[in-house]
Amino acid sequence: MLTTRLTHSFGIDHPVVLAPMDLVSGARLATAVTAAGGLGMIGGGYGDGEWLKREFAAAAGTRVGCGFITWSLARHPELLDIALENRPTAVMLSFGDPTPFADRVRAAAVPLLCQVHTLDQARQALDAGADVVVAQGGEAGGHGVGTRSTFTLVPDIADLIADRAPETLLLGAGGVADGRGLAAALALGADGVLVGTRFWATEEAVVSARAHARAVAASGDDTLRTSVYDIVRQYDWPAEYNGRLLRNEFTNRWHGREAELVARLDEAAAEFRVAVSEQDFDVANMIVGEGVGLVQEILPAGEVVRRLVQDAATRLGRWAPRTAATIG
Ligand SMILES: Cc1cc2nc3c(=O)[nH]c(=O)nc-3n(C[C@H](O)[C@H](O)[C@H](O)COP(=O)(O)O)c2cc1C
Repeated sequence: MLTTRLTHSFGIDHPVVLAPMDLVSGARLATAVTAAGGLGMIGGGYGDGEWLKREFAAAAGTRVGCGFITWSLARHPELLDIALENRPTAVMLSFGDPTPFADRVRAAAVPLLCQVHTLDQARQALDAGADVVVAQGGEAGGHGVGTRSTFTLVPDIADLIADRAPETLLLGAGGVADGRGLAAALALGADGVLVGTRFWATEEAVVSARAHARAVAASGDDTLRTSVYDIVRQYDWPAEYNGRLLRNEFTNRWHGREAELVARLDEAAAEFRVAVSEQDFDVANMIVGEGVGLVQEILPAGEVVRRLVQDAATRLGRWAPRTAATIG
């Protein structure tokens, strides 16, 4: 229905790629997206080799890729070997300089996707030999730099690619949660989209029913970019990164008071751990982007793919309903 350079290059039906969302994008979600004609990506996250092996084993027989948090991968480089041994359809590197890993991915003849947030990072990705650049705007759920919006970053990077490496593909990411977003990204010059939040809100995502219910009730106004959960989880994110997630009592209390949070870390970390175990999302984090406001119901991932593509195609005028075809 919507064929692009991405669908031709990867041999997929639809220009829709699942974001490798940490533990949320397990084999079940990744294979569901691939089965629906998109490309599923397993989340490499912060580095659990056993989890990665299990998910690749569970996905065996279905084409899936895998994504890593680059600065974290630098501390666990063996994870890339695990991924490459499983012949992934693609490897995606986000959040850090991809250069140290690019050669190993290319030597394995695996397509390299690099997620970027600025033009400078896009240049770095092209220098590293990325096959696909993922332009992520600040609307996105999860981490990023957050200084640029998808609406201008995608065409900026499309122009850069046209100028410097026209064979490189481009995905738009951040705020794509329905057919309008997919159509817009293609119109802005992308070859496809990388979708996180909308797939987070599916039956196959590793997300609790209570978190899903809260997301359905939330609007895009209810998210913010913050570092408080990186502090409380003691993750060493480089200073330029923060993450978009759902505002709650915990962010109301600590966002803007990070120094005090650091000073009271033991107490706050204990409170956070209890909240996670009790699924208390007034305190525990729920990582979603502005697109959460476009999520009205939890659906099977395949249905999300179908609706995204059908609605985008309709909007782009490429969908010929049977009735129109027979009239002609
Ligand atoms: C719950 C969640 C977890 C994420 N974890 C990762 C991750 O581990 N690695 C990564 O590269 N991107 C991660 N992201 C960001 C996605 O790659 C992507 O940029 C983002 O989801 C796109 O915006 P959207 O959420 O509006 O679709 C995550 C996003 C979400 C919502």
